[in-house]
Amino acid sequence: MNILIINGSAREQSNSFGISKVIETNLKQSGIDTELFDLRKEELPIFKMEEQQYANVSVNKLVNLSQKADAFFIVTPEYHNGISGALKNCLDFLGIDHFKKKPVAIAAAQGGVVGGFNALNQLRLILRSLHANVLTEQLIINARNFDDKQVIFDETSVQQIEGLVAELIQETGIRLQHS
Ligand SMILES: Cc1cc2nc3c(=O)[nH]c(=O)nc-3n(C[C@H](O)[C@H](O)[C@H](O)COP(=O)(O)O)c2cc1C
Repeated sequence: MNILIINGSAREQSNSFGISKVIETNLKQSGIDTELFDLRKEELPIFKMEEQQYANVSVNKLVNLSQKADAFFIVTPEYHNGISGALKNCLDFLGIDHFKKKPVAIAAAQGGVVGGFNALNQLRLILRSLHANVLTEQLIINARNFDDKQVIFDETSVQQIEGLVAELIQETGIRLQHS
């Protein structure tokens, strides 16, 4: 089983990255083959639907990792009631072939008191277009739960992430058994 994590924030001091690290640690502890595609490090060009863009090292890596993945865990920041432009641009390089029927868990990094939902609803809509099988459960982690190194110190948040990772592994196992 191979699960691809996408950190949807390009900010160096990203809380989405902090969430992604907990997911990665958890998957590895569960013996799952995993990669973290980190938009802080991967400089994708602006999607133009031009063939030569797929020769770009980061685009090529994204496409290959997505093909190989049995499932995804996507983490997005909420910016202005939506997902990051960086994540939308990233997903535009992918298509139904990469996502069809694959289980996808989603989580958001929230700044305000009630933020996160709009970004997750938007992400669900995009993933529906990609024919992904998005889990019903989702997570929103508030900025106050991170220290200044983007490490989550709130034990409840960590446990919630662990719970969603476990569900993703279970769903992916069921799908692999039946495909
Ligand atoms: C341009 C911008 C817009 C934002 N808009 C929202 C918002 O609509 N709702 C919200 O809850 N937080 C909002 N925030 C706060 C971010 O969600 C918060 O900083 C979060 O940590 C971003 O994720 P990141 O650290 O992974 O980039 C915004 C932050 C920025 C920089």
